[in-house]
Amino acid sequence: MPKKYDVLVIGGGPAGYVAAIRAAQLGFTVACCESNPYADPKGKPRLGGTCLNVGCIPSKALLHTSRLFEEARDGFAAQGIAINKPKIDVPTMIARKNAVVARLTQGIALLFKKNGVALLEGRGYFVGPCENGWRVKVGEETVEAARVIVATGSRARHLPDIPVDNRIVCDNVGALDIATVPKKLLVVGAGVIGLEMGSIWRRLGSELTILEALPDFLPQADADIVREAARAFSRQGFDIRLGVTLNKVEVTKKGVAVHCTDKSGAALEFAADRMIVSVGRVPNTEGLNAEGVGLALDAQGRVETDAHCRTNLPGVWAIGDVVSGPMLAHKAMEEACMVAEVMAGQSGSRRFDAIPWVLYTSPEIAWVGKTEQQLKADGVAYKTGKAPFMANGRALGASETAGFVKMLVDAQTDRILGVHIVGANASELISEAVVAIEFSAASEDIARICHAHPTLSEVLHEAALACDGRAIHF
Ligand code: FAD
Ligand code: NAI
Repeated sequence: MPKKYDVLVIGGGPAGYVAAIRAAQLGFTVACCESNPYADPKGKPRLGGTCLNVGCIPSKALLHTSRLFEEARDGFAAQGIAINKPKIDVPTMIARKNAVVARLTQGIALLFKKNGVALLEGRGYFVGPCENGWRVKVGEETVEAARVIVATGSRARHLPDIPVDNRIVCDNVGALDIATVPKKLLVVGAGVIGLEMGSIWRRLGSELTILEALPDFLPQADADIVREAARAFSRQGFDIRLGVTLNKVEVTKKGVAVHCTDKSGAALEFAADRMIVSVGRVPNTEGLNAEGVGLALDAQGRVETDAHCRTNLPGVWAIGDVVSGPMLAHKAMEEACMVAEVMAGQSGSRRFDAIPWVLYTSPEIAWVGKTEQQLKADGVAYKTGKAPFMANGRALGASETAGFVKMLVDAQTDRILGVHIVGANASELISEAVVAIEFSAASEDIARICHAHPTLSEVLHEAALACDGRAIHF
């Protein structure tokens, strides 16, 4: 007799493991299947998905180390701290990153035990409907579940004619495990991964060139913020080439040679000892429909869902990177809780306009809500309040004066429509703006809140005051 569960989750990433835990908290019997061992020494499937194993967490661990290294090398002397020239020990840096990952992934396994979620090891795919739900094959075992949540995530998109070996040519997986600092590093794609990974290795000493196909980079961000970030990146030595078309990539044991053309059609050539390809991600849906259950996919190959993440199959939901919307871990976790709660008869919905974006570059970039270019395109009358980090005492004391906060509010109602930050700790500062947007606050509401002094949060406060022309400190 196959084992029976109320809920089976396919995929153990942030979408899947959170859905499994929340469903168990709500009283369902739950199993979650995962097939990828990532770097597990025993080759057993590891929980945490892309985010914990080869995404958010390891990249932020390396960003942290590289930031400290750069600060020691370039920033200490100005503060009167004399040290010998620091050296980076890459194997220790990678081992620390791996330890952080191992600790977190093991932590998820413990949370499964605590909440009574069964972990099934193996790839899951639909066999077909059964009397009370769905029959799903996981490895050699077949189980039955009244409800199934597809949370199979995404993987790096690769380009035709550029084979990724995760040694010389890396995607996000290899880029987190490069064994020595490349002398020259080429990155294809000036998106979120390209800028973060490029930052890590540039800080450690790589000469960095980023090749971007579009005439601009980060088109989803506010153009003002991108201009400011581009200036800062250029000062740091990023060589970002826009409007580039790759023609031929030659890979040898020692490196790559890339032949391309720029936007005017002129030929360009680059050679490097490592290359990172970061040109977006594709949803993992292979095999789910192998037995012809008819799970509907959209034109981009993502599982089609309604606003509650229901698919076209009865009792089957889909969440996270495998469905539409931003490919972000916090979006995946929001959908996970919503689906579990809707299954339990509670209410819930997903809302994309209050999802924050963060880039962990220097300076950090973060935003929530509409950009100025979107408001213009939508014909919305708006006012802008902008405040520089340069006028903030805490920023000055920390030598973190680059950047600004820009708040966009409705010209008639003063309701906050978007907040865009480029500057130190943008990743943390954005939370106040998320609360404001989630609760339809006005700039006047932020202006009236007492912000601790001296903190970087005062820059957001000043931006709110500036919406009404009454900033105090600049
Ligand atoms: P995934 O994390 O991809 O998990 C899906 C899991 O399902 C995988 O483990 C996979 O092995 C498993 N699976 C697939 N098919 C099957 C099957 N048939 N049976 C069993 N198991 C299956 N987001 C942020 O919000 N902040 C960040 O700072 C951030 N940094 C990132 C850095 C990098 C380098 C990358 C690549 C991504 C980053 N992301 C970040 C994005 C984030 O990792 C994803 O949005 C998030 O992991 C999506 O979660 P998910 O559960 O939908 O998918
Ligand atoms: P991306 O979509 O952010 O950027 C890809 C870039 O590659 C784009 O600028 C695109 O124009 C460019 N490109 C595409 N084809 C190209 C080609 N042939 N030649 C040159 N350039 C080309 O995708 P990326 O960076 O791979 O990241 C994937 C996703 O992972 C992100 O969109 C985000 O959802 C998530 N992520 C989130 C992070 C965060 O929240 N801090 C960090 C890293 C990833």
